Amino acid sequence: MNPIVKGFFDHDTWTVTYVVYEKLGSPCAIVDSVLDYDPKSGRTSTKSADQVIDFVKANKLEVAWILETHAHADHLTAAPYLKEKLGGQIAIGDNIRTVQKVFKAIFNLEPGFSTEGVQFDHLFSDGEVFQIGNLQADVMALPGHTPACVAYRVGDAVFVGDTIAMPDVGTARCDFPGGDAAQLFKSIKKLLSLPPETRLYMCHDYPPEGRDVCFETTIAEERARNIHVNDGVNEAKYVEMRTARDKTLAMPVLILPSVQVNIRAGNFPPAEDNGVSYLKIPLNAL
Ligand SMILES: [Fe+2]
Repeated sequence: MNPIVKGFFDHDTWTVTYVVYEKLGSPCAIVDSVLDYDPKSGRTSTKSADQVIDFVKANKLEVAWILETHAHADHLTAAPYLKEKLGGQIAIGDNIRTVQKVFKAIFNLEPGFSTEGVQFDHLFSDGEVFQIGNLQADVMALPGHTPACVAYRVGDAVFVGDTIAMPDVGTARCDFPGGDAAQLFKSIKKLLSLPPETRLYMCHDYPPEGRDVCFETTIAEERARNIHVNDGVNEAKYVEMRTARDKTLAMPVLILPSVQVNIRAGNFPPAEDNGVSYLKIPLNAL
């Protein structure tokens, strides 16, 4: 059984949030939500998440899962807000524990910060099968961009996270802590071995000049036309290109706030004795 997929594009972070469901009134999953964050003021808002909530309510959907494809470095997740408003279990790949260990050290987080992933309701292992109502879903571990990256396959639709982008955009960067270009190449090959007609849904789109935002493609399209990993590119060529290109990229504007919140499943750091929650900026660490 194949799902209905509704995408919400966030123009501030170029992120797409998806609602995945069988039909009106059925259970659903929300994939990669956005909590709006203004880095100038340190203020968050729920405008983007509220659009998703309105859609879920209008379609009488029942939230079973709030899924993360990885700990994002370019936006904060709204998972706890969505859970509070709609219910559902917050889940991510089980290698989030590796990511938590890396960033606990970088941010020198409080001793009580668990690196066992207990902040999430569920950790998925590679190949794990789950249900979204009557929809059959499974998890593909696709490390490389980050160690914890997974794709969620629901019927003929796959939510690929940052692993791969639209064919004219390419693939994810591999220079964050724990990233690995050779590993990403292998992960992408695993993804692209699915049936050619499989629908792929991107976590982002950064459209080249002259193209409108678009975040759905197919395995066949990626294999034929992806500028980084089409069928004519081998691992050595890919790693050389990816490594050279990553050296030219600045860090995402929101990497420091995003990671600190997202490795806590979207919760803010514990409030200090004045009741305010603070984010840290490690100097010369990234
Ligand atoms: Fe990412």
